[in-house]
Amino acid sequence: MMLSKIHKDHVNMSKLLKLLKEKIQLLEQDQQIDYRLVKVIITYLKNYSDKYHHPLEDMIYDYYLKYRVVPDTVANRLSQEHQLIKEATIELDELLEMILLDAVVPKEQCIDRLKHFVNLQSAHMNYEEKEILPQIEASLSKDDWRKLKEQWQDDGHSDPLFGEKISEQYKELANRIKQNS
Ligand SMILES: [Fe+2]
Ligand SMILES: [Fe+2]
Repeated sequence: MMLSKIHKDHVNMSKLLKLLKEKIQLLEQDQQIDYRLVKVIITYLKNYSDKYHHPLEDMIYDYYLKYRVVPDTVANRLSQEHQLIKEATIELDELLEMILLDAVVPKEQCIDRLKHFVNLQSAHMNYEEKEILPQIEASLSKDDWRKLKEQWQDDGHSDPLFGEKISEQYKELANRIKQNS
């Protein structure tokens, strides 16, 4: 079911945000962090969330906004936040790339960007979980979900980090998540 898939993604994303928060704390305490691992987290969010999670949500939201009476503020907020998250992800990814190439990046700048990213993602996820998804669940019928299912072009992709088969590039991160939970 589509909504349970979205909930599951959110639970998984929360685990990644928790790891990022720990990294921010370490940086604030003037400790070293493994930037490579941070880059892997952002790469996952860039390649999986922005390509599968958000498009799935967008399809459901578009349908909901089209066939139900929903205030403009809700519609604007949803599309704006997905766009902002996408931009923040790309920016952060580029910053980490520079750090890994040994460019001099002030620590404060890195902390700021990481915090901005984590706050943006958390606020958006809370908004969806507490307000949007319950409204959608209460409002869409079985028939609506059948239509949405027909519309969704599932290319059979599997989640390379939280799915059954963990891809090589995410194995270390998967272990960290396991230790953390
Ligand atoms: Fe979203
Ligand atoms: Fe979401």
